[in-house]
Amino acid sequence: MRTEEPDHSSRSPLVRAGRFITFEGGEGAGKSTQLRRLGERLSDQGIEIVVTREPGGTPTAEAIRSYVLSGAAEPLGAEGETMLFAAARADHVDRVIRPAILRGAFVLCDRFIDSTRAYQGADGVDPELIDQLEALAIGDMRPHLTLMLDVPAEIGLARAAARRGADGADRFERETIDRHEARRQIFLGIAAREPERCVVINAMQAEDDVAADIWQAVMSRLLTQAD
Ligand code: TYD
Repeated sequence: MRTEEPDHSSRSPLVRAGRFITFEGGEGAGKSTQLRRLGERLSDQGIEIVVTREPGGTPTAEAIRSYVLSGAAEPLGAEGETMLFAAARADHVDRVIRPAILRGAFVLCDRFIDSTRAYQGADGVDPELIDQLEALAIGDMRPHLTLMLDVPAEIGLARAAARRGADGADRFERETIDRHEARRQIFLGIAAREPERCVVINAMQAEDDVAADIWQAVMSRLLTQAD
């Protein structure tokens, strides 16, 4: 699909075009808090922000989210779950992400393609199948910047359990520490292979320091100073 470039002449002098930023990382890395903080900071610059998440972001994708996270899709196997994530993603990209980018907004998305690589990849799904479904689901809508919030699996899981309180763990949180550590290594491998897109953020730091590192990455990679 081709659409004319939007006119950004009336917007913040710092920014000229829509940008797609994804937050990735294991359980308890603090993605949601940091995503909210970055959104507020970008809004202060006069930039339109769209905050969204995966799986989810549209009514259909949210329904798929509930179904998969409940564990109801487990009998389909990891490949079947991967297809459901891809179907949800395609709907989300078509209805929310692409339109927002085309009108010049910044889209901040909690998890995206790298979560499929890390989670379904660690569950044994063939990377080639993941590649094919990814291409179908996102087309040309690759993130401009991916912030990988990195924390050792043991610490992230303890944080996620504390946050959850009495509520039960979801389908993916229930996995072993080894599986979570394998996911972390996949995230770090992606960041090493795609340094032009990905920045690893040390999420063991205090919340303010994590936010400062994220702002630095966004400033240096996406926000161009006015001439
Ligand atoms: P969520 O509550 O959003 O987790 P978190 O707070 O850790 O981000 O639940 C999303 C879960 O879905 C999470 O365990 C990761 C998993 N997931 C996949 O397995 N594959 C995917 O492609 C995506 C987007 C998420």
